[in-house]
Amino acid sequence: MQIDIYSDPHLYEAAHVWKTNDIEFITNCALECGGPILEMASGTGRLATPLINKGFNYTGVELSKPFVEFTKKILEPIKGNHDIIQGDMKSIDLNQKYKFIFIGFNAICHLLTNRELSTFFSCVYTQLMDGGLFLIDTFVPNPIFLYRPKKKTHVMKFDLPNGENCVVNEINQYDPDTQINHIKWFFESSKVDEFLFDMHMIYPDTMDRLLNESGFTIHDKFGDYDKSPFSSESHLQIYLCTK
Ligand SMILES: C[S@@+](CC[C@H](N)C(=O)[O-])C[C@H]1O[C@@H](n2cnc3c(N)ncnc32)[C@H](O)[C@@H]1O
Repeated sequence: MQIDIYSDPHLYEAAHVWKTNDIEFITNCALECGGPILEMASGTGRLATPLINKGFNYTGVELSKPFVEFTKKILEPIKGNHDIIQGDMKSIDLNQKYKFIFIGFNAICHLLTNRELSTFFSCVYTQLMDGGLFLIDTFVPNPIFLYRPKKKTHVMKFDLPNGENCVVNEINQYDPDTQINHIKWFFESSKVDEFLFDMHMIYPDTMDRLLNESGFTIHDKFGDYDKSPFSSESHLQIYLCTK
């Protein structure tokens, strides 16, 4: 059965329980910059909770309605000034300015064209305070991954919310003309569910150019959460931009 990958927040959380290595880095960037904070594509609130616990005024924008409803429930008992808004990150205008705006964990790859990226950057620019910081965290496209043989490759194993073990395999089809990687994930437990999703491979030179064209100055470009400088060996491209 084919399912939207962002339709079940419990499944998403279970599959991504391992993703914790960015929390300290993003929290420290927020502490250095200050709030209020706007997170674009805030998912299930994985990064929202630690930031709200630090006392930040936090707003998350997320497209998936089930994810928004789930996150609102999770955050409800936490004291503080926080809100999750259902909307499209490339067109949302909250009529407010934020000191720290960020987009984490490869979510920017869901903007499938350079035009969408530019529209998104303009939207961030409008809502970023003077002296504020815009952070992007995403992977560097890897040709070995993109051009590998068209057969199932193991991605990960995890325990489903019902306790059953689930093995995830994938097949991908990269289109070099559009620079979109078409990915099919197979979640294999007592049944097999298929998730299809597309990711825009954003090469670092394109990211640099589009950020500059949108009026941003790239203040720092790291290759990992330890703040090592970006290099040809880097798996991540982490941008800290100012207006
Ligand atoms: C890889 S998940 C990352 C979620 C979260 N940022 C995290 O770090 O766990 C990507 C998220 O982007 C959201 N998304 C995709 N396109 C979006 C859009 N145009 N506007 C807002 N959210 C979007 C998806 O619904 C999903 O929650």
